[in-house]
Amino acid sequence: MSRLELKNLGKSYGKLKIVDGVDLALEEGEFVSLLGSSGCGKTTTLRMIAGFIEPTEGQITMDGKALSAPGAVLAPEHRGMSMIFQSYAIWPNMTVAENVGFGLVLRKLPSAEIKQRVGEILETVKLSPYAERYPAELSGGQQQRVALARAIVVRPKVLLLDEPLSNLDANLREEMRSEIRRLHDAFRITTVYVTHDQTEAMATSDRIAVMNAGRIEQVDPPAPFT
Ligand SMILES: Nc1ncnc2c1ncn2[C@@H]1O[C@H](COP(=O)(O)OP(=O)(O)O)[C@@H](O)[C@H]1O
Ligand SMILES: [Mg+2]
Repeated sequence: MSRLELKNLGKSYGKLKIVDGVDLALEEGEFVSLLGSSGCGKTTTLRMIAGFIEPTEGQITMDGKALSAPGAVLAPEHRGMSMIFQSYAIWPNMTVAENVGFGLVLRKLPSAEIKQRVGEILETVKLSPYAERYPAELSGGQQQRVALARAIVVRPKVLLLDEPLSNLDANLREEMRSEIRRLHDAFRITTVYVTHDQTEAMATSDRIAVMNAGRIEQVDPPAPFT
């Protein structure tokens, strides 16, 4: 069970409350979007979940174990989470296979296992033919698949994505959002997905948390299309 819980989570900079009393619980394997306009506190919330930002109020727990509270933050690398940023930041000097396998090398897995797991995940994201290419030789969509593969291959308990499609053009965005949902259905990793795009949230999520001015206003499954 990886139940991720945010309880009365808050972040202030001076007198400015950026995130204000956020309560949210994700069931294991659930995909939840934080949907809201620019500046409403989505990235700050996600970075608190990842352990990059210390909350000024409240707490974050996983399976009842404390991850974050004011003055006590478990380091990002000890949380079993993977994060994908808007600029997906894959290493230009490494091949696709090296990029994807890097997290496993860091974890000192045997090279035969690394090879096998990298091979499997490249197959899943349809990048097997590109394993020996460098990022500069890939399209934007392919680079984003590398970032996804690299995040998933380490088998994180939680996957965090911060507007991962905003650098892609419209066609590719549509393709990649179904890709993200397909990968989710395949691996069932508990996911928090930040976006300002309602259509994107509808297409990917089990539930959508609507954020406004640092607060969650509503949490619901996407309304069925009529
Ligand atoms: N380190 C900081 N110091 C002061 N204000 C910040 C800091 N980081 C973010 N903010 C402010 O917090 C608000 C929310 O930012 P952010 O979480 O990035 O929003 P979103 O991701 O929803 O666009 C913005 O108004 C931003 O300017
Ligand atoms: Mg943001």
